[in-house]
Amino acid sequence: MLRLYSLGLSQFFLFAATVLAILANVGQVSQNIVARNIYLAKLKPGNVAQHLREEGLTADNIMANNQSALLQKNQGVRNLYAIGMYGYCGGKSLKDERTCTEMNFGYVFEPDVIIGEDLPNADSKALQDLFSRYDIKPYARKHWHPAFYLTFIGTIFVGVAFITTCLIHLAAIAVAGFFASFGFLLLGVGAAIWTADLYGLNNSEPVGLVITYGNALWFVWAACGSTLIGLPALFTSTYAGRTKWDDGIERGNYYQTGAY
Ligand SMILES: *[C@@H]1O[C@H](CO)[C@@H](O)[C@H](O)[C@H]1NC(C)=O
Repeated sequence: MLRLYSLGLSQFFLFAATVLAILANVGQVSQNIVARNIYLAKLKPGNVAQHLREEGLTADNIMANNQSALLQKNQGVRNLYAIGMYGYCGGKSLKDERTCTEMNFGYVFEPDVIIGEDLPNADSKALQDLFSRYDIKPYARKHWHPAFYLTFIGTIFVGVAFITTCLIHLAAIAVAGFFASFGFLLLGVGAAIWTADLYGLNNSEPVGLVITYGNALWFVWAACGSTLIGLPALFTSTYAGRTKWDDGIERGNYYQTGAY
């Protein structure tokens, strides 16, 4: 009983972790209602025009007239950019007049590149100088990639852990324990790196950008937490199971030995 109860409990939490981690992955990959509302970070140009002007850069009419025009083609800065794991979308809001970039494995969030590629007639060198002065670029550059891979592999690990628990077999549960433990670590480190990166990127106010944490980040944290909660139950089920397996067979009817 204890074994099945623990197993069910761990399955529940590993299932929740898998769903949460997958949700974090699907953010911005398409325009459907679920994907478009999930993002790792939000980027708003704020008063970037004023700061560009202070630097002697051309900054007249930098906002896009057509908010759903193609991104990365100097067609104007968008009101709001939402950053996903594989790319980003930009437009008037999360709901309408928006468009997305192509999705790439291992996308790295670089606010200056996003703005630079949308600015009409931008002096990209001066823009980069402006950004590097505030240490904005190094943050994303250094850590975004590892965080992406840790989270991506972590997602697979908790998914495999959940599927493995469905096999209700002792060896399978040990394997699930392995994947869940590493999945927990990978997701935790990935989420921590992203949180630290975005904390650093918050300091982009000096260049007029407003960068805020997105819900996908909390999904990764929640997936990590859910895996952690599922672990003790999983190990309990392994332990209870092994007791039954090792002792039960030798002693005959396990339930009559009073070992429970
Ligand atoms: C805005 O750009 C998109 C994509 O290029 C195009 O389909 C749409 O017709 C444009 N809208 C206007 C009002 O020009």
